[in-house]
Amino acid sequence: MTPDVLLIHNIGELVTLEGGPRRGEREMNDLGIMRDAAVLIEDGAIIEVGNSDKLLREAPTDAVRMNVGGRSVVPGFVDAHTHAVFAGDRVDEFEMKIKGATYADILAAGGGILQTVRLTRAATKAELLKQFLGRLSRMMEHGTTTVEVKTGYGLDLETERKLFDVMEMAQDRHPMDIVPTFMAAHAVPPEFESAKEYARHVAEVMVPEFAERAEFIDVFCEQGVFDVDDSRLVLEAGAQEGMRVKVHADELARSGGSMLAAELRAVSADHLLHAGHEERRALSEADVAAVLLPATALNLGAPYSDARALIDANALVALATDCNPNCYTESMPFVMSLACLGMRMTPAEALVASTVNAAAAVGRDDRGTIEEDMAADLVVLDAPTYRHLPYRVGVNIAWRVIKMGEIVVDRSERRR
Ligand code: NIG
Ligand code: FE
Repeated sequence: MTPDVLLIHNIGELVTLEGGPRRGEREMNDLGIMRDAAVLIEDGAIIEVGNSDKLLREAPTDAVRMNVGGRSVVPGFVDAHTHAVFAGDRVDEFEMKIKGATYADILAAGGGILQTVRLTRAATKAELLKQFLGRLSRMMEHGTTTVEVKTGYGLDLETERKLFDVMEMAQDRHPMDIVPTFMAAHAVPPEFESAKEYARHVAEVMVPEFAERAEFIDVFCEQGVFDVDDSRLVLEAGAQEGMRVKVHADELARSGGSMLAAELRAVSADHLLHAGHEERRALSEADVAAVLLPATALNLGAPYSDARALIDANALVALATDCNPNCYTESMPFVMSLACLGMRMTPAEALVASTVNAAAAVGRDDRGTIEEDMAADLVVLDAPTYRHLPYRVGVNIAWRVIKMGEIVVDRSERRR
């Protein structure tokens, strides 16, 4: 399936996102669109972008030519925040929430994250791997080519180790690029008396153990979970060991997470449902990416983050699924629909936030745009324009997905 040289031609609309990450309304709505374009790919990287007829004439004769019939082509999606390695599901809680239980009620009663921790501790590596690979494939079917994945359903050395093993086994078996994040500070396990005591254990014992295996460290900084001091202790220990910082911030209440992220110059602060003016300004000034997760708000029955205010504050806004048992979706296009319909982002802003800005939020500046020398991660849409992505709500219009020059999803056959 992997031609050495691939020419994708007859692209009606090529969304290049040339120039890199974008902030503010004007930049985020400027997508660097080319008409009648072609993209030449060699050894997994983009080597030329240009006019379709011209490249068709000039491309090497051995290039495999893929005519996409005037369709739209966009960069592969980067899902910048997931908890996708877990066992089982929490479909019962889905119904409890419909009947009025809150996420915090369920967690306090020993359900929620702790329910998934029980199932994940009991699961074998083979079971976890099978479920994780299924999720990666569903993500890729919808156009995702890079995904950040957090540990955090182990909460003990043995199970957190198992989760890293599963991620690394999946990386060997699946074309998806996985960005690993260590998040043992996700909930307080039953073996510990207090968040403080567990945070100390994470900082002193677990961080050194996993520093080599994770690029990022993350903490659920939240009222009733890890307070700002507990969170700071864990994040600073991680940073000391070379991990870069992410924070679950101001998700359930205004808990100080955004301000901590700004103080620590984190790479991202995520959720931000309850962030206010001060938080937005601090994130923007400290150059902390704001990763918004509207599918989580939908599942919590909570108001969405104020994306418009973040864009106006010139913050670097990204989107992600949060794929986890409380918010079980693998679809970035669905998240884009929610971003537009729920947070009043434009389709252009939603696409920027799902590609080049999301790549910045996971520290990958080699992808997210369609330009020379960038990774050849692309999605061919079965539509004339990227604007159909959020507009065709809940429907998959990814037609072909190309990962590092390889055709990893081909839904063109089953269409007709
Ligand atoms: O991003 N907030 C903490 N973590 C996840 C939820 C994980 C779970 O409920 O299992 C989140 O919302
Ligand atoms: Fe999360």
